Amino acid sequence: MKKMAIVLAAGQGKRMKSKLYKVLHPVCGKPMVQHVIDSVRKALCERIVVIVGHGAEKVRETLGDQVEYALQTEQLGTGHAVLQAKSLLGSEDGVTLVIYGDTPLITAETIAAMMAQHEAENAGATILTAIMPDPTGYGRVVRDGDGYVLRIVEQKDCTAEEAAISEINVGTYVFDNRLLFAALERVTNANAQGEYYLTDVIGILQADGARIAAYRLEDPAEGTGINDRIALGEAERLMRLRINAKHQENGVTIIDPAQTYIESDVAIGADTVVYPGTMLRGKTVVGSDCILGPSADLTNTMVGSGSTVRHTVADGATIGEGCQVGPFAYLRPGTRLGQQVKVGDFVEIKNAVIGDGSKVPHLSYVGDAVVGSGVNFGCGAITANYDGYNKFVTEIGDNAFIGCNANLVAPVKVGSGAYVVAGSTITNNVAEDDLAIGRARQVNKPGYANIIRSRAQSIKKRQANRSNSQI
Ligand code: UD1
Ligand code: CA
Repeated sequence: MKKMAIVLAAGQGKRMKSKLYKVLHPVCGKPMVQHVIDSVRKALCERIVVIVGHGAEKVRETLGDQVEYALQTEQLGTGHAVLQAKSLLGSEDGVTLVIYGDTPLITAETIAAMMAQHEAENAGATILTAIMPDPTGYGRVVRDGDGYVLRIVEQKDCTAEEAAISEINVGTYVFDNRLLFAALERVTNANAQGEYYLTDVIGILQADGARIAAYRLEDPAEGTGINDRIALGEAERLMRLRINAKHQENGVTIIDPAQTYIESDVAIGADTVVYPGTMLRGKTVVGSDCILGPSADLTNTMVGSGSTVRHTVADGATIGEGCQVGPFAYLRPGTRLGQQVKVGDFVEIKNAVIGDGSKVPHLSYVGDAVVGSGVNFGCGAITANYDGYNKFVTEIGDNAFIGCNANLVAPVKVGSGAYVVAGSTITNNVAEDDLAIGRARQVNKPGYANIIRSRAQSIKKRQANRSNSQI
């Protein structure tokens, strides 16, 4: 049976009070509508049509050509929204999932289970329901004395008796495609909100004699619809715990899942330990046996197995195996550390390759550089890569030694095994195995410290006398 899906994403989301369209608000780093699309795709829907309206251009730009689009120029209700997909899907045979773009917690497993039940019961429509402790705001599921679903009634159209029903419509449905589009033509807007409700299709199909099946969520939280920032925060929390649990099941130790923020597309190897305050974002990939955090903030960063990254910010960096990074390191885009590299405290690296076993342990800036293996950067040594107009490259050969507080003024090369003396400012290339000193020769003046001291003391005395005479 052909499986299709329609994702509703045309509403504005007024209650979010935001410049950003509701379905584009991220949950664990990914727009909520993208979560919905990912689950739909995983449940093997072949064609996915997203209904866009408010912010249509922005939604299209964000989602790209992974889905098809239908435009709803006026938001006349959820039924009217689905009808906009008629020209794309109306003539297909098969089943169609309809899901709202503001329910990002619904899983592919739930969608697949609904579809299986729909087929098994030979239903005309299958609705997803949940028992909500507080059903206010949701549509209620009205069943007959034998438990069969009759219809869905919206909050604003409920009688007092219907309002007391705690089983709600989550807003995810499976329909026989032809029955859906035929019934939509018969939906009217004669209701409290003057809207064309998708939910009315259920009552229409039921009256026509079609079987309406219902799949009830075990955990009602999965059905949370995001209408405001409070629900957004709650969805973020639930999604975070879900992501963390997936990594824990794969063998990752997470010391405190409530304080560990891992976005949806991050991968982590087994026996890695993640300490609190850690944020792993974007397409970050971490190997096995690593120690991350406390407070590792990594975006689109690769971490090789067996590395430790503590109190560090990294973006677009590649860290090899067995490296030690931090505390308090900043790895900017283009950083590529080989194996067993040490990057210590208050070190910034940008667009630089650092070879195997090299060490940049303290207070350094290395930018636009190619550093060989076994190189040692002394405390405070830096590359001066920028002259205020252009950026230049520094090259350092294997096993070179860069003394403390050296300035390597690019473009410049330091050969393999060369030795740059502490405090040097290096503006000319240093050949292999040479020693370079680029600093003024030291001069000692015997006893001169005493002269400075007595001069300072007499100035102090004069100032004290002057302020006394002013009193
Ligand atoms: C809807 C359901 C309600 C259900 C609840 C679950 C209807 C009539 N009601 O109510 O039974 O309990 O969801 O969360 O369907 N949209 C459009 N075009 C429109 C109107 C809405 O694309 O013209 C989209 C919105 O962007 C949103 C989704 O449809 O993603 C749901 O609309 P919303 O207004 O949030 O419906 P609810 O009042 O929450
Ligand atoms: Ca809603």
